[in-house]
Amino acid sequence: MRTKLIAGNWKMNPSLAKGRELAREVVERTRGLGCEVVVIPPVPLVQAIGEIVVGTHVGLGAQNLHPERSGAYTGEAAGSMWVELGARYVLCGHSERRQLFGETSRFVGAKVAAARRDGLVPILCVGETLDEREAGVTEAVVTEQLVAGLADVGAADADGIVIAYEPVWAIGTGKNATPEQAQAVHRFVRGWLGQHLGADAAERIRILYGGSVKASNAKELLGQPDIDGALVGGASLEAAGFAAIAAASA
Ligand code: 13P
Repeated sequence: MRTKLIAGNWKMNPSLAKGRELAREVVERTRGLGCEVVVIPPVPLVQAIGEIVVGTHVGLGAQNLHPERSGAYTGEAAGSMWVELGARYVLCGHSERRQLFGETSRFVGAKVAAARRDGLVPILCVGETLDEREAGVTEAVVTEQLVAGLADVGAADADGIVIAYEPVWAIGTGKNATPEQAQAVHRFVRGWLGQHLGADAAERIRILYGGSVKASNAKELLGQPDIDGALVGGASLEAAGFAAIAAASA
């Protein structure tokens, strides 16, 4: 049985003061829901938010990491630095990183491997654009992202990795994938995991859905057999709504 994971990707929001308030409220409102809850603040807030959530039931994540352990990489952060701040998760290959910052699938794979090496759980993000969906190549796109993203991952890593299916056309658009559309890709991803890592690993790896998840559509999405949680953007910036999504996973 896979424990549902509800993660809030705050992206480049909010201010430090608002972030602290949001984190405190998330801790208060998501107690005892039976799912795992994680907040993923922007870089300058990770330490302050960690001081609020680490030691509670709410976990901490980072939005990115560099594959190297240390060195001359201005503006970057190493996985070990996130671990020192109490983080347990790190996003790898979010579509905004791929599209806006030119991250290739191969580079994303190096990040996933580094996250494992550094003791973090990578959340590997995959998903197609609208053009790709309309061209009927969703599965091919997702496969390429899985092949490169998990190049250094084996069956023994099953409990230490998470996949997030985030169709690019559903991110920040208010237009979520239907539960059927999402479930079809999640089932495909689990099938791919089964072929490459074995049936046991595939059954254990959590596959999150992301893209315009909100309180009103969470129950139906999270009710699908292969949807093991949500990666929430906009709706994670408001504690009551985010808690309602977490409650919908029960
Ligand atoms: P939205 O929930 O704002 O669509 O963002 C999804 C996302 O990109 C989470 O990583």
